[in-house]
Amino acid sequence: MSDCLIDPVRLSALLGAGRGRFDVVALPECDSTNAVLLQQSASAPSGRVIVADRQTAGRGRRGRVWHSAPADTLTFSLLWRLANEPARIAGLSLAVGVAVAQALEHCGVAGVALKWPNDVLLGASGAGKLGGILIELASDRAATAAIIGIGLNLHQPPAADGFGLPAAALDAAGPVPERHVLLAALLDALACTLDRFVAGGFAAVRDDWQSRHVWQERPVRLLGDSTTTDSAVVEGRCLGADSDGALLLALPDGRIERYLVGDVSLRAA
Ligand code: BTN
Repeated sequence: MSDCLIDPVRLSALLGAGRGRFDVVALPECDSTNAVLLQQSASAPSGRVIVADRQTAGRGRRGRVWHSAPADTLTFSLLWRLANEPARIAGLSLAVGVAVAQALEHCGVAGVALKWPNDVLLGASGAGKLGGILIELASDRAATAAIIGIGLNLHQPPAADGFGLPAAALDAAGPVPERHVLLAALLDALACTLDRFVAGGFAAVRDDWQSRHVWQERPVRLLGDSTTTDSAVVEGRCLGADSDGALLLALPDGRIERYLVGDVSLRAA
């Protein structure tokens, strides 16, 4: 019997497409599930999952802190070894977003949307940030190990931060799926989506991303990071993601510009 909120044996019995492909370790607490897996990246098998009830130093994108609370959040990281060329790994966080959205939909959650590059939103017009994805890479000569960190709010955590968006939680959308059922759906969807990504890059799942893209054809503002404040760099009409995951913006002068995943973030204009 596990003394954590997740029991790996119970989880394993719920897996479908992902059965036999994951090696799940449940921890009551750690600093960051991404940090734990990064430390293990040289030796851990592809498919190692670290799921923690509590993170004391959960990491978000752009150096931010990701708050997690036992019972209110589901936080885990997955190590996956990829043979893709480094240039094709750029679209991975978008592909993972597709897997998260499909898993939530499989569990009966309606109104899930995706925002470039790594946000999972919930509610009318993507009202709030339900979860985030943080991918960190550990490479050697043979392959790249992607550490895929996913945090989802099940119930509204007191310290939740939507990083510029209101925070959202699954309990706003209806009954919260039981956490083993939810994690199994996530791992099944990740196994399928990562197979597609390894075979065809982000292009293989682009249509699934575009159909859930919250600001398709809408006016947006792209912000650059200046350590203290976000500074507006450009506005345009959002055309979604290119076949490699780059953001596509139609500028007021008619040019279409591509922006790569990096220290930029996107807002509704
Ligand atoms: C973001 O929206 O900026 C990304 C948030 C990612 C949070 C998850 S929680 C599990 C994993 N471990 C971490 O330290 N971060 C990711």
